[in-house]
Amino acid sequence: VKVLEGSTITSVDESTIDCRHHQLVCIDGEGYIDRVVDESEPDFSSIKDEAVKADQLISLNPDEYLLPGFIDLHVHAPQWPNAGVALDRPLNEWLDTYTFPLEAKYQDVSFAKLVYDNLVEELVGNGTTTALYFGTIHNPANLELAKACIKHNQRGFIGKVAMDNPAQTPANYRDASAKSAVADTETFIKQLTKLSQNAAIKQTPVITPRFVPSCTPESLKGLGELAKKYDLPIQSHCSESDWENGYALENYHKRDSEVLDQYGLLTDKSVMAHGTLLNQSDLDTFKSRGVAVAHCPISNVYFGNAVLPVSKLLQQNVKVGLGTDISGGYSPSLYQNIRQAVISSRMLKDGVNAALDPNQRGTQIQPISAKNGFYLATVGGAKSLHLKTGQIKAGYLADLQVVKSPLASFGEESADQIFEKIIYHASKADIRQVFVQGRLAKGRIK
Ligand code: GUN
Ligand code: FE
Repeated sequence: VKVLEGSTITSVDESTIDCRHHQLVCIDGEGYIDRVVDESEPDFSSIKDEAVKADQLISLNPDEYLLPGFIDLHVHAPQWPNAGVALDRPLNEWLDTYTFPLEAKYQDVSFAKLVYDNLVEELVGNGTTTALYFGTIHNPANLELAKACIKHNQRGFIGKVAMDNPAQTPANYRDASAKSAVADTETFIKQLTKLSQNAAIKQTPVITPRFVPSCTPESLKGLGELAKKYDLPIQSHCSESDWENGYALENYHKRDSEVLDQYGLLTDKSVMAHGTLLNQSDLDTFKSRGVAVAHCPISNVYFGNAVLPVSKLLQQNVKVGLGTDISGGYSPSLYQNIRQAVISSRMLKDGVNAALDPNQRGTQIQPISAKNGFYLATVGGAKSLHLKTGQIKAGYLADLQVVKSPLASFGEESADQIFEKIIYHASKADIRQVFVQGRLAKGRIK
């Protein structure tokens, strides 16, 4: 029902991009790409003429490029009002002093509505077509987040956060018991499934134990069982900081990945944020279970205590995507996070990490490139969520962004040069249109 005409840039594999001049990207009634037609193909002109006649042709300007939409694998929706705030504090103090008090405010549904509407619009504005969200413990607020996603045509994966450990959570912001944490999660699954039933863009519930320290063994166990019962995605934080890792060792005499695994929370539908301190045995578990890592490069600079060795994970075929981790990370833009992923990876080899334990901190790991980063933000995220998206290819969801070349050019530029200038310089204003499942989510059609 729609045909987009213009140049396309898409990932082929982790280190290769495919750039094509003058394509027709044909989108079917269900919002899937049913064909990508090259100018050289015999029916190019007839398809284009037909689209023009039916008033279905959307032509990009010569300085615009069609890219897949981005997938944000880790966002704390309620933390949006604090983006950029108190990032100099250690993780546990940041949580107790800044984050939990803010999240507690989402008991007020009108506050939730205000923030979530603004956040989803901002993320879509930055080219994010799918997001994996942490909500709060409050189901009415979590449903507002889903409504904001539906309103702005964004594909949301949304978790009611479970946190019932009285020793690590404040009295005004915790689940009353392990039993209620699990029961409220099950209620949310049912509520969201119902809300999403008639929505154009599906919203999916996600099992969300905040992280090992926030939960009791009973709630972790119950959530693992729920994930199995409903066959749902799972998200949490894993091996993010020395403090978190130390908590698991002290209280369970296990690494935190082993605690999560023990309760059935590491499956091929699990997405674990950060993972900066995962050791080889953790990575082996991730690989054998099919667990994905949400790499949050900006946040990791502040709270991660190390740089994630992305190239090592990719070599070992561990699934990796990118997350903003708002507000552990200050930026809602995955472009910014691609840049930081590349920059941080360059610190690994001989830089800041050289002084740290080489087995854990990834010293001597190869840096990643802009192409690797683009892969993480598109294909890596899609694989982590088992979605047919992240590439401009027949059979894939039409989740797309139209990006204006952000800088002037002074002569002929190769496809690689055009791509790199977009990745390093594009800002929200350069993202002219965003489509999710073929539906316009940002911008206007000329
Ligand atoms: N660990 C537990 N909760 C959080 C959170 O909100 N942000 C980050 N970065 N780490 C966490
Ligand atoms: Fe996080």
